[in-house]
Amino acid sequence: MLLKSPPTPMRKPFIAGNWKMYKTIADARALAHGLRSKLDALSDRDVVVCPPFTALAAVAQELQGSSLRWGGQNAHWEREGAFTGDISAHMLADLGCTYAIVGHSERRQVFGETDAMINKRMHGTLAAGLTPIVCIGETLAEREAGKTYAVLERQIKESLAGLNPASTVVVAYEPVWAIGTGQTATPDQAQEAHAFVRKQYAGAYGPPAAQALRILYGGSVKPDNSKFLMEQPDIDGALVGGASLDVESFSKIVRYNL
Ligand code: 13P
Repeated sequence: MLLKSPPTPMRKPFIAGNWKMYKTIADARALAHGLRSKLDALSDRDVVVCPPFTALAAVAQELQGSSLRWGGQNAHWEREGAFTGDISAHMLADLGCTYAIVGHSERRQVFGETDAMINKRMHGTLAAGLTPIVCIGETLAEREAGKTYAVLERQIKESLAGLNPASTVVVAYEPVWAIGTGQTATPDQAQEAHAFVRKQYAGAYGPPAAQALRILYGGSVKPDNSKFLMEQPDIDGALVGGASLDVESFSKIVRYNL
């Protein structure tokens, strides 16, 4: 009897916009409205926006009933408490969020967040019923010192520690040297890192979980490079910063193959 190899699992493309600390409520509303008119009902890909906390309620109103989803840019692990300045994953769920970014390199570098703290944020996000988008990535100095894989290995191990393989997370590989610099990783560089991440994940959580894991690339994704990145076998989506702040450019990235 001819034994067929199992079919490669289909990972639904996932394009997320990280609006960072940009957009007033009125501007966020206009952007969400414009994205909805261009991108609603694209059922073969997941489209997510992560506005600043102050604009989440307005964006939720604009996107309610559409196929687009929204998320927070960070999430605290406790449900509530004396944590001035933080927002809990539970509060994000209350706003209808489906996702929360955790471990963004700007949180790690500017605000001193550690892998241990990011791990707590990931668990808190899952406990609130949201899907965490866990960011990892090496700095330029680490890459130049040949430490890229050691850094990714440590970040995966520590940021995701204790993860139940049955839980759904999304991982974003964002090389710090490519963020906001216009210096995108080449599709080959990104693919190599993504394949490494998937292999590490398989080692920790098993091959089926690794095959199902969506790994996003982030760092100067633009309309003119998204298609080439997305063609790579282990690149399942993009986490877009600057180019997600404009209806036309983000829509083009989401429609990379249309
Ligand atoms: P840019 O797309 O502006 O490089 O930002 C990437 C990023 O940090 C997304 O989280």
